[in-house]
Amino acid sequence: MPRIYLDNAATSFPKPPQVARAVFEFMTQGGCNINRGGYQTAYDTEEQVFDTRQLLCDLFDGPDCKNVIFTKNVTESLNLLIKGFLHPGDHVLVSAMEHNAVMRPLVQMTGHGVEFSRIPCRADGSLCIEQMEELIRPNTRAVILTHASNVCGTVMPIRQVGEICRRRGLRFFVDAAQTAGVLPISMIGDLIDAVAFTGHKGLLGPQGTGGLVLADGLEKELDPLLSGGTGSLSHTEEIPAFLPDRFEPGTLNLPGILGLRQGLLWLGEQPEGAVLAHELALTGRFLQGLAPLEAAGLVRLAGKRGLEGRTGVVALQTPGREMAQVTYRLDSEFGIQTRVGLHCAPSAHKSLGTWPEGAIRFSFGAFSTEADVDAALAALEVILHGA
Ligand SMILES: Cc1ncc(COP(=O)(O)O)c(C=O)c1O
Repeated sequence: MPRIYLDNAATSFPKPPQVARAVFEFMTQGGCNINRGGYQTAYDTEEQVFDTRQLLCDLFDGPDCKNVIFTKNVTESLNLLIKGFLHPGDHVLVSAMEHNAVMRPLVQMTGHGVEFSRIPCRADGSLCIEQMEELIRPNTRAVILTHASNVCGTVMPIRQVGEICRRRGLRFFVDAAQTAGVLPISMIGDLIDAVAFTGHKGLLGPQGTGGLVLADGLEKELDPLLSGGTGSLSHTEEIPAFLPDRFEPGTLNLPGILGLRQGLLWLGEQPEGAVLAHELALTGRFLQGLAPLEAAGLVRLAGKRGLEGRTGVVALQTPGREMAQVTYRLDSEFGIQTRVGLHCAPSAHKSLGTWPEGAIRFSFGAFSTEADVDAALAALEVILHGA
């Protein structure tokens, strides 16, 4: 039975073949550390890491490639921002669609005197931006917002939120886990102070890669999450003040970063907007195919019904059928891999009206095909109409 992978919101698969090749080549031939080794292989690897920073800086319209900080995933990046920026007495705004990568560190920080408010979201996952300004308090310091929901794909109006933040003197941090590599993000155009990204989803890199791009000057307001050796300023026991070293202690995930570089290069070779157009075309096909099942009351869609303002992520419930059972049958009988449950985003499910039971999530990626969509629809037909 062929494997039909429709869980790209969790991690993208497959990747362009050159991603794994770069990891393999580094592991078998590179084999060095950077900022530490005084020999050519180390210099060559350093050059490629620099190039990866540059590709990321260009992708997000960042200020400078030194402002690109590598972490092991967006969760670490968000922890760095939340724990490094907020102090007792600070208040921050988030949306009611956030992933636990934002909510758990934030709730943890409430134990240290930090407060937060949620900007409400509608049942389709969209942000009630008109309610945002009334939630701003004198001690509000930042807004942290997912760019698109990992549950249902609804895209947030980052440009408008950025404008409000700029006007009200708030820092604006974007969780780009679901959109980096798929939707355009401009730190300049969207008035963003920090973009947190993960390397293994839309950027098509290996797991264990991710990072942050910081606006100039933000590093002075941010305490490092970790400290240690950087290969620079080895004479001192103080954390270096300059970027990226201030936030990059310890050895980097070099195999991962070189793989990520290949994912970025592959994306750069695609016509502008092509990956999004491909994912939305598949989403449209899927939504159209679901319509008869929905009309028969066998499927209930969560989130947006059309293609406007969304990514290639679709969440649905199967009234009358145990969703875990449906997911199990999709996999075991048809090879179709999806994710059921609450998707690390309880608040999002509350907004969408799918709490506490959750939903089944189908997520399309750069390499998903029409045949994958048709197979998923055919399998749902059998499972939902069957005895
Ligand atoms: C919106 C959002 N934020 C954060 C994360 C966490 O990503 P990672 O596990 O790569 O840190 C995810 C992953 O599903 C996500 O969808």
